[in-house]
Amino acid sequence: MTVTIVGSQLGDEGKGGIVDLYGDAADIVVRYQGGDNAGHTVVYDDEKYKLSLVPSGAIRGKVGVLGNGCVVNPRTLFDEIDDLRERGLDPDVRVAERAHAILPYHRRLDGIEEEAKADSDLDAGTTGRGIGPTYEDKVGRRGIRIGDLLDPDVLRDRLEYVVPQKRAIVEDVYELEAGEELDIDALFEEFSEFGRRLREEEMTINAGEFVSDRIAAGDNVVFEGAQGTSIDIDHGIYPYVTSSNPTAGGACTGTGIAPTTVGQGEIVGIVKAYLSRVGTGPLPTELEGDEESEDLAHYIREEGGEYGTVTGRPRRVGWLDMPMLRHATRASGFTGLAVNHVDVLAGLDEVKVGHSYTLDGEETFTMPPTTERWGECEPNYRTFDGWTDANWDLVADEGYDAIPANAREYLEYVSDELDTPIYAVGVGPNREQTAVLEHPF
Ligand code: GDP
Ligand code: IMO
Ligand code: MG
Repeated sequence: MTVTIVGSQLGDEGKGGIVDLYGDAADIVVRYQGGDNAGHTVVYDDEKYKLSLVPSGAIRGKVGVLGNGCVVNPRTLFDEIDDLRERGLDPDVRVAERAHAILPYHRRLDGIEEEAKADSDLDAGTTGRGIGPTYEDKVGRRGIRIGDLLDPDVLRDRLEYVVPQKRAIVEDVYELEAGEELDIDALFEEFSEFGRRLREEEMTINAGEFVSDRIAAGDNVVFEGAQGTSIDIDHGIYPYVTSSNPTAGGACTGTGIAPTTVGQGEIVGIVKAYLSRVGTGPLPTELEGDEESEDLAHYIREEGGEYGTVTGRPRRVGWLDMPMLRHATRASGFTGLAVNHVDVLAGLDEVKVGHSYTLDGEETFTMPPTTERWGECEPNYRTFDGWTDANWDLVADEGYDAIPANAREYLEYVSDELDTPIYAVGVGPNREQTAVLEHPF
């Protein structure tokens, strides 16, 4: 059986923690998109692990798979694996031969293009990891795949074709100086060595075959989405998006597992009880613009530790946006919801929710398809009475009914509006700090 975990907002909803919780009953955890732009936090034995590439299950002895839909920077991959080994773990990570490799020139181009776009406010505030340029090369059919690193002749051919093009962009289009990231010999040496290590450690697989064989043999599989629905390349707030599909369809195309199989399993939407955003672009329910809102944003940011896992950037903060969640529920077909960070809002007198928008004088319940129009939406708020701080360990232990009544009212509103049951409520960063109503496996 499969359980697909999907971010329902703008990333950082606490997906890593829920993967860790449900992944306990899983044998394999599979990432299906994105790369080291993700930052998933797992707290285990009071140790905090921040994973950007290695699937969250790998720290608990599960097989971690990076599917064909991922973009893999081998430098990050091996740094992360080596780091986990130094901390006494033995992660078993497999990489799809069809996944694309992030090369140093992708990171360089990511930075160059973001800077160029900034003049017209089109920069997405990327993580600078080369994600967009790597997916561009994949679609442009000039990418280098993990399987290509295993064959030195193929790798050299690919580099000889693509590197002069990238050099021309850096030198002739942007009139900048090219460095080591565009030196074919240096790239060949480093990346054929990665290929050798991938082969030696028997890490590469045919992901579709590997995962479907394991499902047929009765294994439980978690598909771990990175990022979130509103930064999906197709369904998000283009162009302030990432370059892949975090929505549930990505779990099929990004692994080679059929929609009929993924659809027979559960698809759990991960919801943060408010909004956080590390990138640029509009955000209708953002808390900003006046002193009271800024103070509230500051409070939530500090209580929730809302600073980027990868970049350390302070995150923008806003109230929960229901049109965004209706859009996410439709796009991925959530069978259940996990609502995190309910503890963070404790202590506020009242908690607001953007229930709908007003656009051109009309009430609308879902996100318009263009980001410019989304920026014109005025939220219509519903106000809930706040809840006081509680002993959250005890609450998680006792379960859903121990959650403060006002918070339950808030949760039930979300569940009713989305017509989707709540499976789990996060009341703290540890997996024990989760009230579990439903275990999908
Ligand atoms: P992801 O990218 O979706 O996996 O989320 P991140 O790890 O980037 O960000 C979520 C942050 O919130 C991490 O520091 C988590 O440890 C923490 N977290 C997750 N769930 C909860 C929760 O219910 N309450 C609190 N206070 N923190 C949480
Ligand atoms: P997790 O998996 C939040 C955002 C970036 C930027 C846009 C494009 O931890 O939820 P990219 O580097 O992907 O080209 O950046 O997407 N972004 C994220 N925001 N959480 C993430 O991952 C993100 N990954 C990318 O801030 O706006
Ligand atoms: Mg994150």
